[in-house]
Amino acid sequence: MTWRPVDLKPLAIVMVGKPARGKTFTAGRIDRYTRWLGYASKLFNVGEYRRQRLGVGQHHSFFDFANEEGRRALEGVAVEAVDDLVAWIASGGEVAVLDATNGTRERRTWVRERMEAAGLRVVFIEIVCEDAAWIERNVRNTKLYSPDYAGRDAEEAVRDFTARIEHYSRSYESVEEDEGSFIRITDKGQKIELSHIDGFLPGRLVAFLTHLHDSARTIYLTRHGESEDNRVGRIGGDSSLTATGRAYADRLAAYLADQIPAAAPLNVWHSSLRRTIETARPL
Ligand code: SIN
Repeated sequence: MTWRPVDLKPLAIVMVGKPARGKTFTAGRIDRYTRWLGYASKLFNVGEYRRQRLGVGQHHSFFDFANEEGRRALEGVAVEAVDDLVAWIASGGEVAVLDATNGTRERRTWVRERMEAAGLRVVFIEIVCEDAAWIERNVRNTKLYSPDYAGRDAEEAVRDFTARIEHYSRSYESVEEDEGSFIRITDKGQKIELSHIDGFLPGRLVAFLTHLHDSARTIYLTRHGESEDNRVGRIGGDSSLTATGRAYADRLAAYLADQIPAAAPLNVWHSSLRRTIETARPL
């Protein structure tokens, strides 16, 4: 457990976003992070409540807001999840993450008022992305493995989930300034907006979300090449590389060119000292 201050109020982190935008991935990472910080944290996934209460495999038309029966059933499972969340906080929980679309202002107002009445502080985390290729990839990589589509033809499942997204999109309303605390992450972290964010944990969450990636990436660590100070056994200083150090930098660049596909982005981080700048230069 790491050190952390005791927050004055328990915190509810309420996810917002159309389906297949990475909410569940982000909610899971937040839950894991807050537990790692030492908080009693728990994740409440409304889709799981639906599957447990109503079974799996609803046709996309179930999620059409014009379908009154579907809408009432979905409201019922959302109420149940929020009730459980509030009860869990009352029993000593400190952080709760609500994973659901929460895509209308009306729904969010209800969630916030219910939680605030129970003594919780609410922060909305909205995930926005309209990159069609990324969304389709996400549907194929995650939704096809959901119990909702177990045993179903993949293309038919993609069509059904895409229609489900369209139903949610028709009524979707982005979080607005007057809805309280929120963090909005647009286009996979290209833009991050904060509104009314203060306190220790919300601040830590901003830093955490800024560095959260939805795909694996490789990190290479290297020392700098031999410097002139190294050559004479002097510690510290800010000397340039020797010919041996420059040869190392060139071989390092050749090695990475071999390891990393040409089109892959490469970010290089180094200190402000000459020896690291010169080692990084051929990269
Ligand atoms: C679901 O039933 O899969 C999600 C419901 C919601 O996010 O509102």
